[in-house]
Amino acid sequence: MGKKLIANLKMNMQIEDIKDYIKNIENYCYGNIDIIICPSYIHIPFFANRQFKLGSQNVSVHEKGAYTGEVSSSQLKEVGVKYCIVGHKELRNNFGDTTDIINSKIKNCFSDRIIPIVCIGEDKQDKLMGSKKQVLRREILDIFKDLNREDMNNLIIAYEPLWAVGSGMMPSSEEISDTIDFIKNLFYSAYKINVDVLYGGSINSKNLHDILSVENCDGFLVGNSSSNIDEMIKIINMINNS
Ligand code: PGA
Repeated sequence: MGKKLIANLKMNMQIEDIKDYIKNIENYCYGNIDIIICPSYIHIPFFANRQFKLGSQNVSVHEKGAYTGEVSSSQLKEVGVKYCIVGHKELRNNFGDTTDIINSKIKNCFSDRIIPIVCIGEDKQDKLMGSKKQVLRREILDIFKDLNREDMNNLIIAYEPLWAVGSGMMPSSEEISDTIDFIKNLFYSAYKINVDVLYGGSINSKNLHDILSVENCDGFLVGNSSSNIDEMIKIINMINNS
């Protein structure tokens, strides 16, 4: 299987930008790459039934009911969403997503056959104190503690150091490789599953070259650069030619 490229469009783009974006990206949906685009909720119908796969940037912790402003996993499924980013730094920081909330959101995804892309990563302080692996271990054991093992075969992990998201900073390719190994081994020893692990955080067409050589990395979660058509095309071509 090819590498995954997940585009987190965040709260970018207006309707007039979307047509052009889709037309361009669809021309590049071939080769050894699995492209998953995650637009704003309101733009999801424009991105449905295309050459790429469709993801959401979030899902409600609730199943249905009086939760103004929320969108449930069953509503996402109905409009063709197949993947959902869960536990993103911006939701943890701005909207208080905790380990328990992330755990419930993953359960909702599983119950509607949506593949969660779960973001985990250490913050700057953890990195400086040398406690990155302890933090990742705690997250992995807490978030996934009571999840159905069979469901967990349909799971993607995005290793996104919190200090790297949106900052222009990145770990070295050796560090990324070592951390991905650690995550994969822990998932195997704790849950007996072989999980796909992506890297995310400040990726662009200029620095992608280094990470492309990381063999155990199953793909990339790209934020800010992914809403720029030229950047996306460069990134897709680089992955396809790697
Ligand atoms: P970034 O964001 O590429 O802008 O750092 C990553 C993300 O949103 O997951």
